[in-house]
Amino acid sequence: MFDKLWCVYLNLNPEAKKVQDILCEGREQTNDHIAFRTLNLENIGINRLAKPFISRGYSLKGKYHFQAKKLFACHFEHTDPLIPKIFISELLVGEFSEFLQETVQFMVKDVRPSTDLFLTTGRRWDINYKIYSKLLSESEYAAWLYVFGFVPNHFTIYINSLNHFDSLVEVNQELKRHGYKINSSGGEIKGSPSLGLEQSSTLAYKTEIKFEDLAAAKKIPACYYEFAKRYDSFNGFIVNSADKIFESTDV
Ligand code: NI
Repeated sequence: MFDKLWCVYLNLNPEAKKVQDILCEGREQTNDHIAFRTLNLENIGINRLAKPFISRGYSLKGKYHFQAKKLFACHFEHTDPLIPKIFISELLVGEFSEFLQETVQFMVKDVRPSTDLFLTTGRRWDINYKIYSKLLSESEYAAWLYVFGFVPNHFTIYINSLNHFDSLVEVNQELKRHGYKINSSGGEIKGSPSLGLEQSSTLAYKTEIKFEDLAAAKKIPACYYEFAKRYDSFNGFIVNSADKIFESTDV
């Protein structure tokens, strides 16, 4: 399952392979977590999408509320600490306009997460640039889901596991030296050692997307790479930090 998720993710963020080579120097990476986005609708909410993970030994460990973005999220941990945590967020659809609610209801009306690989299936609906733009003005998160559907949003390298990088400052510096852009919303490094977690991320890779009402493809931010350093065995997430990390897909 993880191999397939990684393949789908690499397709949406081909830079991840190069970033991995720079940071992991040929060794296999250890992931802190893999993150997914969904909607709080029947059949596709967090509880449903977590099932394949629960059946593989994961359990619910944390719940998070993002008031401004109108999101709720949960994180799940495996009994084996070397297996990445799973972070799933969902848009609180009912708190948005009728237009947004109708659009997302229509978009997922035939969607059923019938297989364990549902989170690699992407989008099965046609997309329209006018609708995308209107969604974007209300919720970047909703617009992203409309374009990409059900795929990993990001993978996260666990910096503590690296041999040649000790801090996120060094990681960010090295990536910038190679020409990558770091998300600077809320500062390049979110969190602190005293909070137990520091995070940074690249800005999402822009991929060409065809809309039914446009002749030429548009470049849309797809997926990004995150980096996490943990302290004092803290395994959770920090709402204020995650709130800014979400903005790595901002247009
Ligand atoms: Ni994350």
